[in-house]
Amino acid sequence: MRFTVAIDGPAAAGKGTIGRAVADRFGFAHLDTGLLYRAVGARVLRGERAIDAARALTPEDLSFPDTLRTGEVAQAASKVAVIPEVRDALLEFQRAFAHRIGGAVLDGRDIGTVICPRAEVKLFVTASAEVRAKRRLDEFAGRGLEADYDEVLADVRARDARDAERATAPMVAAEDALTLDTSEMTAEAAIAAAIAAVEEKRGTA
Ligand code: DC
Repeated sequence: MRFTVAIDGPAAAGKGTIGRAVADRFGFAHLDTGLLYRAVGARVLRGERAIDAARALTPEDLSFPDTLRTGEVAQAASKVAVIPEVRDALLEFQRAFAHRIGGAVLDGRDIGTVICPRAEVKLFVTASAEVRAKRRLDEFAGRGLEADYDEVLADVRARDARDAERATAPMVAAEDALTLDTSEMTAEAAIAAAIAAVEEKRGTA
């Protein structure tokens, strides 16, 4: 059975945690689409042109995801994500992933609006910028990386503004998305809410 769960929202709101948990629970495949933009951003930091980099992307670009999870690569990703030709180059891969038999969870910024407008379940996962900066800081610390709270907060805000204000496929909640503000929710509660939304749609609640 084909079933798509689209999860959108700003950086560090909990999309990945929720997406992985939903995928595990239902045996769906999971794609963190931010990694695609990060991989293009990383190539640009190495001197490539953004559009060429997006067109040349291979699975190898994604094989060391932790190297893509840095503040520098995040900003580069947000910058290349503004370019329509970059988004176009990444579109088919994402749609093909969503059309897998057996179900798929995709998380990003434009999944419910552009990539999978007919997804069975759409979630918009958000949280205050301060809470998200704190979570990102904790995540960096867990990986042994040092970071400064004010810098991470400024980074999150700059990306929010760029991602929400761009002309092509801006970050916005789809009209039929369920919004989950996780500012004061535990991860477990947010995961439970997402699973309930999927179960309701599948008629197995
Ligand atoms: O989800 P993330 O923080 O890894 O995403 C990195 C950047 O990639 C984000 O700031 C904007 C861009 N992005 C996008 O434009 N569309 C997506 N579907 C996913 C990410």
